[in-house]
Amino acid sequence: MQEIIQQLSDMRAAAASGGGARRIEKQHAKGKLTARERIEVLLDPGSFEEWDMFVEHRCTDFGMADNKIPGDGVVTGYGTINGRLVFVFSQDFTVFGGSLSEAHAEKICKIMDEAMKVGAPVIGLNDSGGARIQEGVASLGGYAEVFQRNVLASGVIPQISLIMGPCAGGAVYSPAMTDFIFMVKDSSYMFVTGPDVVKTVTHEVVTAEELGGAITHSTRSGVADLALENDIEALLTTRRFVNFLPANNRERAPTWPTTDSPRRLIPSLDSLVPDDPAKPYDIKELIVKLADEGDFFELQPACAANIVTGFIRLDGHVTGVVANQPMVLAGCLDIDSSKKAARFVRFCDAFNIPLLTLVDVPGFLPGTAQEYGGIIKHGAKLLYAYAEATVPKVTLITRKAYGGAYDVMASKHLRGDVNFAWPSAEIAVMGPKGAVEIIFRQDLGDEEKIARRTEEYRRKFANPFIAASRGYIDDVIMPRDTRLRVCRSFAMLRDKQLANPWRKHGNIPL
Ligand code: HXC
Repeated sequence: MQEIIQQLSDMRAAAASGGGARRIEKQHAKGKLTARERIEVLLDPGSFEEWDMFVEHRCTDFGMADNKIPGDGVVTGYGTINGRLVFVFSQDFTVFGGSLSEAHAEKICKIMDEAMKVGAPVIGLNDSGGARIQEGVASLGGYAEVFQRNVLASGVIPQISLIMGPCAGGAVYSPAMTDFIFMVKDSSYMFVTGPDVVKTVTHEVVTAEELGGAITHSTRSGVADLALENDIEALLTTRRFVNFLPANNRERAPTWPTTDSPRRLIPSLDSLVPDDPAKPYDIKELIVKLADEGDFFELQPACAANIVTGFIRLDGHVTGVVANQPMVLAGCLDIDSSKKAARFVRFCDAFNIPLLTLVDVPGFLPGTAQEYGGIIKHGAKLLYAYAEATVPKVTLITRKAYGGAYDVMASKHLRGDVNFAWPSAEIAVMGPKGAVEIIFRQDLGDEEKIARRTEEYRRKFANPFIAASRGYIDDVIMPRDTRLRVCRSFAMLRDKQLANPWRKHGNIPL
């Protein structure tokens, strides 16, 4: 017996040492942790339960029959984050470059299947050279098995991808189908075709970092939700992030004890909106002041910054926030911001997270770039997402709510449950100046007359009271009372029941 126990210990030690000391050193030299070190940081101490440590590949070509490393380049299992169950796979770049073999894929699929059965999130730590070249189509099949599970798990359990090394070719499509992607700066990249192929085909010279690094994807493409400084920051941020998520689509996100009173008044909000309607202010100031303890987890902060998305808690309850940002493009809706917000709204709706929408939107961004880029279809995504959402929806118009954008931003007409406005709200078809230039075109050139008409229009229409008189706005509230009124509304809505008509699935304008 002693001998067998020793044998088991040796096998475990062999698996734990991955690709060996030299390759681990190389990994560390790149500023990266190993697959196991990452799991240790991610999960609660001692909570990791590893599966399939002894799985090996079945490839016999290219000398692979004698080249086997237990675990086959991915560490899989489950554990807890702040006591809550999560499943994890962590690709081990020190073993065949973390490349995906048939057996490697089976390990990932096994934990995904189990996560679906028990209803817990899957967190994937990606660091891989892609398909195991020696295996050919068996590896491609393995990827497709993972893709299929990503799709079936979508909207059922939260899926989070951390990109902590290479992720290229078709391999990018697994993270792409998960809910959130966090990338590590300088050591990770994602692209469908790499710099060499790009150079051959389009003659563009570009580095891997420029083409698909964390900054590129968190600022330009919108593929990544966050860019983190290093492995440790990425893993600790993920721990904090998981606190905002429910375990699955049948549960609610965990409530968090707070000493921040839901009745807290915020007098400084009375002067947040400047007197000059053309002057911007930072909508994040409002979000942070409303949130319990000022805790705001923002997603995609550097991409389509004209809309702000993220999670806060109100009276301990997780709430998704979508807010127009007057500081960027005057808070206009455009292609990128519509896509960003639509995806966020759909995540919240799929996972029972109530939505708070803060509106200050002068309309859709004009221009050929927007029209040729399909703003019609992309703007419709956000409209569709809000209209489809059945979670509690509370909306506050702080200033402008013009035109179609008024409708889109969780208006009463899209089944907004509670719609508030501040006294500074301007709810109209368009801004006073634009309106007067159209309906009093004959007076153009007469500055004084135009100014008078503009003022008249502003007095008559640029306020919340016409909308309130029709019941489109439930109440015009004092800014200082906002947290109190919003918290009370969500408390009233906590057991809201609403279902959409049966259908196989809708046809969102993709
Ligand atoms: C098998 C691989 C591998 C792969 C790397 N390795 N990629 N083994 N299959 N795909 C091995 C290397 O042989 C090496 O083994 C070890 O991993 C580390 O690789 P290095 O090249 O030394 O590391 P580095 O210099 O950091 O470069 C990393 C890399 C490079 C950029 C990822 O290895 C690379 O270009 N690999 C090939 C990438 C690729 O073309 N993959 C297929 C893409 S197509 P030793 O024993 O020396 O440590 C694809 C399709 C998916 O993925 C389709 C899904 C539908």
